[in-house]
Amino acid sequence: MKQPLKGPHHFTGITRDVVTNVDFWCRIMGMRFVKNTLNFETTFRYHTYFGDEEGNPGSVVTFLEFNEAPAGVPGDGDIHRMVLRVGSYDSLEYWMDRLIANQTHSELLRLDPTSPQSLVFHDPEGHEVELMVSDTPDTPLLADADDIPAEHRIRGLEGARSYTTIDEQEPFAAHLGFRRDGNRLVLDGERSGRWYFSEPTGRPSNDGRVGVWHHIAYDAGDGAETERARDEANEGVRPWTKIFDHYFFDSCYSMSPGGRMEICTTGPGFQLDEKLEDLGDRLCLSPRVEPLRAKLEAELTPIVNPRPRSKQKAAAKPSDNGVPATEPATVA
Ligand SMILES: [Fe+2]
Repeated sequence: MKQPLKGPHHFTGITRDVVTNVDFWCRIMGMRFVKNTLNFETTFRYHTYFGDEEGNPGSVVTFLEFNEAPAGVPGDGDIHRMVLRVGSYDSLEYWMDRLIANQTHSELLRLDPTSPQSLVFHDPEGHEVELMVSDTPDTPLLADADDIPAEHRIRGLEGARSYTTIDEQEPFAAHLGFRRDGNRLVLDGERSGRWYFSEPTGRPSNDGRVGVWHHIAYDAGDGAETERARDEANEGVRPWTKIFDHYFFDSCYSMSPGGRMEICTTGPGFQLDEKLEDLGDRLCLSPRVEPLRAKLEAELTPIVNPRPRSKQKAAAKPSDNGVPATEPATVA
């Protein structure tokens, strides 16, 4: 494309249990809960966001709340794994032990010398995750998580793995700037994005079910760059939607042979309505939904951030107005 994509931005699944969702992705996986907010297509559903310490594009994993969505197993044309980066084979061993300690099964993929080494598991709601020892030179995107050694923490998004063939996906992806690299497609942006493939299953798509990844988003830059990228993308083999305001970024979508893809702006990002040290500590509502705050706070299941940052920092020094800091938070 003349307007190249910059790399992966975020990855999104569906949750019907936000409490378990936040506990798993924040406390167990060690990602920062970077935004507690609502899905912008509705006025009453949560949208949870996890990421590195600053919520940088390329690190972000999000979940849309659909309490009534049935569970489902990915089928043909679905993204069946989110692939996250870790630093070494030792990290895979570390994560197998950490997942065992949290009653979660996992499987090491290490017997094929032609494939990257990975650990595969499901989150509590059935989303399949692949931790991969990536060959990328990208700078790791890390969250602070005191109970996880720095060398083993999640390092950001590697890409998606879909139930389709590389031949089916290539015309769609090549138009967006991906190149074929063996049995994967690679986007050489400011950050590298990779698309992997698994043999189609014969099962029909279960798009929209809990346990099937909803989409992967790629970063197109600022608003003008995203407009150009969307218009160019729309000249490819599949149509793209118009661009929608999603408050923290603007987004458009298409359904690729290997699952839904989004192109979005880099920002304005999660510090639009919270300071860095406060990210994830309160329910953030866009100005459009703010008039419903009292009703929402009464009706929604409360979310408690298991790794708050602001209270930790408040405990370390007096507050700005000279009032002694409150009790330090317990970090699970
Ligand atoms: Fe998205």
